[in-house]
Amino acid sequence: MSSAPAKTVIGILHGPNLNWLGKREPDVYGSQSIAEIDAALKERAKQLNITIEVFQSNHEGELIDKIQAGADRWHGVIINPAAYTHTSVAIRDALAMLDLPIIEVHLSNIYRREAFRHHSLMAAVITGQISGLGWRGYLAALEYLAASLQSDYV
Ligand code: DQA
Repeated sequence: MSSAPAKTVIGILHGPNLNWLGKREPDVYGSQSIAEIDAALKERAKQLNITIEVFQSNHEGELIDKIQAGADRWHGVIINPAAYTHTSVAIRDALAMLDLPIIEVHLSNIYRREAFRHHSLMAAVITGQISGLGWRGYLAALEYLAASLQSDYV
């Protein structure tokens, strides 16, 4: 008797200050709150038969603890490391330990902004990056992971 394939589980990580989405520089980051973005992800994940585990933290070590905890359970990762994108060797090293597809998402187009945002320390250890598509970038990342991880994706 063949058993059903394990349900796909995707970890979704939001870095510092993203808990203020909606009221934080809405001209740059959009007017959607993090709860609205997470709800849209949850709805689409349900349609795709994917379980998502969403976590936001303003603390580098907490994000690293989550990445380590998900290493053996997740099938893919969507992460917006926010300002840590440009500073955190520790988060980069944690991502590099994962043998999983990882999509880095930025709401804004970081390459059209200040020079210090142009460099992602994560970029060399991830699968791909989506930058500048606003909240829809997270959904695009989820579609990509579903398409690449699920044989029945249509
Ligand atoms: C961001 C871009 C980062 O440069 C910034 O520090 C953020 C958000 C984005 O989603 O556009 O906090 O990651």
